[in-house]
Amino acid sequence: MSPRAQSRGLFYKIILIGLDCARPDIVMHFLPEKIDDYVVKHSEEEPELLQQLNRETFQKILQPRMLSGHYQGRVLSMISKLVNPKHILEIGTYTGYSAICLAEGMQKSGELHTIDINEELYDFQRKYFDKFGFGQQIIQHLGNALDIIPKLDKTFDLVFIDADKENYSNYFHAIIDKMNTGGIILSDNVLWSGKVLDTEFKKEDKSTPALIEYNKLLKADKRVETIILPIRDGLTISRKL
Ligand SMILES: C[S@@+](CC[C@H](N)C(=O)[O-])C[C@H]1O[C@@H](n2cnc3c(N)ncnc32)[C@H](O)[C@@H]1O
Repeated sequence: MSPRAQSRGLFYKIILIGLDCARPDIVMHFLPEKIDDYVVKHSEEEPELLQQLNRETFQKILQPRMLSGHYQGRVLSMISKLVNPKHILEIGTYTGYSAICLAEGMQKSGELHTIDINEELYDFQRKYFDKFGFGQQIIQHLGNALDIIPKLDKTFDLVFIDADKENYSNYFHAIIDKMNTGGIILSDNVLWSGKVLDTEFKKEDKSTPALIEYNKLLKADKRVETIILPIRDGLTISRKL
């Protein structure tokens, strides 16, 4: 295959990966919209630099809806501050928004490892990690998370799963033995705009059945205790026993 065809193939692959991770609707409101607005209005403001990252993502990057955004970002930041982790793993960096939110609660001597398969996002992420003063503490890994996770010689206090939905169960199996006791696994989009209630799926829809299986897995697995928070597109908190 010619280099041009190869790079075209990679380009389409990246778009397809993006589509598989994208939040399916623009904003899914599980709460009545007015209550949702009230909740956001009475929660922490989005820090100025994150507003900038948010804007630049919408201006320059494909699939900007993949970014966690103001409210969910503040939830991630709060959870991280409560856990105060030394080692964090993120699966699915995108433009770095959630990595920065999670890093806000990390110990001063801590490290956050974040993995993404899309090399075109690497410099964008690095620019913002440096701007936030996390240059030394956030370590970017480029490639398929299922290849990279087994090579990470670390145990984690906090993990955020937010990459391709099809592989959520595989990510869980890859990280569970690398979790410290009491460690927290956060999984995003577990309600998938309510599609997890569906019983029939389009042939090309691999994400919905995979998320349904994943939610069952977390509920049944005796190594974790799990609750689903019905915020935004659904965020699961699982605690390693
Ligand atoms: C929903 S976005 C992540 C959003 C980010 N966590 C945030 O909240 O701002 C999902 C990311 O996962 C990446 N991704 C998809 N499949 C992957 C894989 N197999 N390994 C690593 N990264 C993957 C995509 O390139 C995309 O950037």
